[in-house]
Amino acid sequence: MPSQTAERQTRGPDRGRAAVPRRDRNDPAQYDDLADEWWPTHGRFAALRWLAAARATLLPSPPAPGAPLLDVACGAGLLRPHLTGRLAGWRHVGVDLSASAVAQARAHGVTAVRGDALRLPFRDASVSCVVAGEILEHLDDLDTACAELARVLTPGGTLVLDTLADTLLCRVVLVRIAERLPGGPPPRIHDPKLFVGPGRLAELLARHGVHLTLLRGLRPSLLDYPRWLAGRLDQVRMLPTRSTSCVYQARGEKTRGRTTGDGETGGGETGQERVGAVPEDRRAGADEGVARAGGSR
Ligand SMILES: C[S@@+](CC[C@H](N)C(=O)[O-])C[C@H]1O[C@@H](n2cnc3c(N)ncnc32)[C@H](O)[C@@H]1O
Repeated sequence: MPSQTAERQTRGPDRGRAAVPRRDRNDPAQYDDLADEWWPTHGRFAALRWLAAARATLLPSPPAPGAPLLDVACGAGLLRPHLTGRLAGWRHVGVDLSASAVAQARAHGVTAVRGDALRLPFRDASVSCVVAGEILEHLDDLDTACAELARVLTPGGTLVLDTLADTLLCRVVLVRIAERLPGGPPPRIHDPKLFVGPGRLAELLARHGVHLTLLRGLRPSLLDYPRWLAGRLDQVRMLPTRSTSCVYQARGEKTRGRTTGDGETGGGETGQERVGAVPEDRRAGADEGVARAGGSR
């Protein structure tokens, strides 16, 4: 039987935490292994809490009370506490591959279902705001991901996203360095081969009818980080920067005409059965999407 010390990490930022299985880079099972790390202020997903706060600043106000905001790969619902004030009228709908994350999102008030970002279980043009926070860098088919984000958006709807750039700087900072730091991503959570160039992202989204209106980098506040480390702050501010060579965020708008895959207006139904913006567990298409999830490796 393993000793108590063998069941705990003995080195690095996880020192003293329960050990988790060593998995391949970007294996989605890691989110179930780390299910207890989403909400604690100093948990392994602490930086996702910081990013959720920065993401919320880009969200538009709801066009009408109860309008659906679709949080693609919602995780445990970290965006939820930010949907207050001018954002309070959104109906927060989420989809995620991880059963444990979906359960936590629901417990925090998100209408969440299991599903695959590469086959969103929602009807065409059914949501006026789509959020894709820290998911594109986990998917192995960026074109399909962009097509799906665009497909479910209503004409004139808003896309808000953040992701990691496919640069040497990002690979060194986010993988080699930050995985070893408190507040950095958990070890092996990213596969740098999937990081996303902002130019390519803008081009693919435009092809599917979503045009970026804002693109900017983000970095943690150097004043806040040591205070967070010392336990004097719950959260580190993510500040805008001009450089998009590491973490970056973007906002875009779906064109008001319908678009085909090449960005031209026109097009038709995809032919797949879809559900509306209020997901139900037992409808066709949601959990089949999970079973087919080839999006994450
Ligand atoms: C880095 S977390 C981001 C979670 C959330 N957006 C946030 O910022 O707090 C990535 C999330 O993507 C989910 N995920 C990974 N691959 C997915 C896929 N193909 N479809 C849907 N969700 C996926 C994981 O389960 C995890 O919850």
